[in-house]
Amino acid sequence: MEPLPLELPADTVQRVASELRCPPTDERVALRLDEEDKLRHFKEYFYIPKVQDLPPIDLSLVNKDESAIYFSGNSLGLQPKTVQTYLEEELDKWAKMGVFGHSIGKWPWITADENILGLMTDIVGANEKEIVLMNALSVNLHLLLLSFFKPTPTRYKILLEAKAFPSDHYAIESQLQLHGLDIEKSMRIINPREGEETWRTEDILEVIEKEGDSIAVVLFSGIHFYTGQLFNIPAITKAGQAKGCFVGFDLAHAVGNVELHLHDWGVDFACWCSYKYLNAGAGGIGGAFVHEKHTHTIKPQLVGWFGHELSTRFKMDNKLQLIPGASGFRISNPPILLICPLYASLEIFKKATMKALRRKSILLTGYLEYMIKHCYGKDKEGTKKPVVNIITPSCIEDRGCQLTLTFSCPIDYIFQELGKRGVVCDKRDPNGLRVAPVPLYNSFHDVYKFINHLSSAIDSAERKYGSVV
Ligand SMILES: Cc1ncc(COP(=O)(O)O)c(C=O)c1O
Repeated sequence: MEPLPLELPADTVQRVASELRCPPTDERVALRLDEEDKLRHFKEYFYIPKVQDLPPIDLSLVNKDESAIYFSGNSLGLQPKTVQTYLEEELDKWAKMGVFGHSIGKWPWITADENILGLMTDIVGANEKEIVLMNALSVNLHLLLLSFFKPTPTRYKILLEAKAFPSDHYAIESQLQLHGLDIEKSMRIINPREGEETWRTEDILEVIEKEGDSIAVVLFSGIHFYTGQLFNIPAITKAGQAKGCFVGFDLAHAVGNVELHLHDWGVDFACWCSYKYLNAGAGGIGGAFVHEKHTHTIKPQLVGWFGHELSTRFKMDNKLQLIPGASGFRISNPPILLICPLYASLEIFKKATMKALRRKSILLTGYLEYMIKHCYGKDKEGTKKPVVNIITPSCIEDRGCQLTLTFSCPIDYIFQELGKRGVVCDKRDPNGLRVAPVPLYNSFHDVYKFINHLSSAIDSAERKYGSVV
């Protein structure tokens, strides 16, 4: 999906190491990669937590003044420093002029969401009329499914990947129930092949080809939350539409992480949250996309006053003039206090550009992969060294910045030991450690330090559990 950079990450690491005449695992490699990173200053726009403020920290293992190794941007992005200023401006406006704030100031509140759409277009690859900022992800998924999932006696299934994020799974189940459909028969779940952790695109396309006539909606994640696999959005979209299905994506883990071209790919609908890679804070405002081709054919099933044309909205005559396209899906007035943090972050994205971020991300995550394989790869099996396995696809076109790791030693212990050393990542059942170096605020030196902390955590596990391989 992404054009390959000229050099593969592993080759870059080895080239830099040979230029420096040192092993690829040497700290100087990380420092040189940081020196060459044109985006390295962007971390200054964010608050990076200090280890001393982290709940699981053990200050006998790490210097209290150090910054955390924050690899949890796939869960909650860090806070842009301007968030507080922007919020204070609006709180001040509210304090000073109350209701007049709706129509006055830098951001009149009634159009606050529309005013920042221009900053989202490049991130999702859509035009402003195709995007709407509202609600939260699961709510938007429901609203979109209400419009796009119109089962008939012959076309009644929703196709999704196995182990989809629980909220998506429940949303689909409840939508099927809403139509009185049998979940067993109507929820078509694709598993990876026996013994494999991730999906092969050809298998997904085969199911679509074989069963597409009975599928009403294909709904996949852009990036799978557990494995970190980036699905082939254009190929799935094309295949689904060729069989007459609507094709939609949950982009929670893809937005702000990989380049997206929703309009050009012809995706029918999509939704995302803003608190992960978009750094808009917990419970941040969600986003949704409805392709322009549906502007006059797909309508919201649940309507509210903010779906009504602005020019006549406040006539209050109860004669709905529905805004065509995505904006018509808005039900309520926009929450200015959620728009401010998103604006603060999108401003930074605009300066950095998705293209440059993705380019750095490929190398940053590639460097992490290289170091893990080098120190704990499968070829170390039989050497009595613990093995760290990466279940995320190794092909850079099939992943974003997250890698999901499994261990031959007890993962709970490793997770706990990393936490004590100031590494912020997360553990997800059944046995995956998710680590996501984010190009906006993580450095190559963060990756280097992470590997040191990982080694120390693994050494500690070996001391505790003996031969743990
Ligand atoms: C893939 C995915 N889908 C849906 C959700 C739910 O999002 P929300 O709580 O904003 O509805 C999440 C939350 O982390 C997610 O990761």
